[in-house]
Amino acid sequence: MNLADARSALRDARRVAVLTGAGISAESGIPTFRDAQQGLWARFKPEDLASPDAYFRDPALVWEWYAGRYRDVMAAQPNAGHDLLARLERQKEGGYFLATQNVDGLHARAGSEKLVELHGNLTTARCDVCSQVDDLPAPADFTPPPVCPRCGGRMRPNIVWFGEFLPEQALEAASDAFAAADVALIIGTSGMVYPAAGLAFETLERGGTVIEINPDETELTPRLSFSLRETASRGLAALMEG
Ligand code: OAD
Repeated sequence: MNLADARSALRDARRVAVLTGAGISAESGIPTFRDAQQGLWARFKPEDLASPDAYFRDPALVWEWYAGRYRDVMAAQPNAGHDLLARLERQKEGGYFLATQNVDGLHARAGSEKLVELHGNLTTARCDVCSQVDDLPAPADFTPPPVCPRCGGRMRPNIVWFGEFLPEQALEAASDAFAAADVALIIGTSGMVYPAAGLAFETLERGGTVIEINPDETELTPRLSFSLRETASRGLAALMEG
């Protein structure tokens, strides 16, 4: 398959499913997961902060990290890649589904509606005691940890951590959409974290086409129909606007 084939396949597809990872937010200035951590955090691996054990050991440290990331995403703006996916959703009417591994909320801010956030969302917190989910206060008014408005318990970041299960309904909806898709797009993900990375195979196994957009080769590349070695925004523009 070449770019012209990929473009026609996307244009003609009645059902499109999309998986995004940290790479689509790189152009909004948000570092990807596997980029070196910055500054103070350079000595931590994400796995050492994004886990139930880390939170049990040192909740203040884990909250400090997430509060910094929350401030960063609230200061960032969706980029052309997020905007093009919101436009693709409108073009495909009902035949569109977006699953993101990102917790930055930028897809929703760009106008994507048929969206599941497989790994949670940085802008909300969940009560350790009663599981109530609540928006975080605006960054300027926020001092972690947040306190549950319902029961007064301590709240944790509303993120799926290493070793935890993904939200079942969101994963099922994504799995159904990828199985039914004529074309799936896999954008800005290293394809190393399952079950999200496995969604591409749901489409391939049923004879659909899977197109990757990523400047670098990934674990998934050898199995996919076509790979566009571009950033998310340029790759989507090439596929949609050609
Ligand atoms: P990674 O950091 O693993 O991978 C980011 C991918 O984006 C890499 O393949 C880069 O080549 C690519 N990339 C970089 N810049 C790009 C650009 N401008 N346009 C397109 N692609 C670009 O991030 P994820 O694959 O999202 O999970 O990581 C998956 C999960 O691992 C995360 O959701 C997180 C982490 O553990 C949890 O927190 C549960």
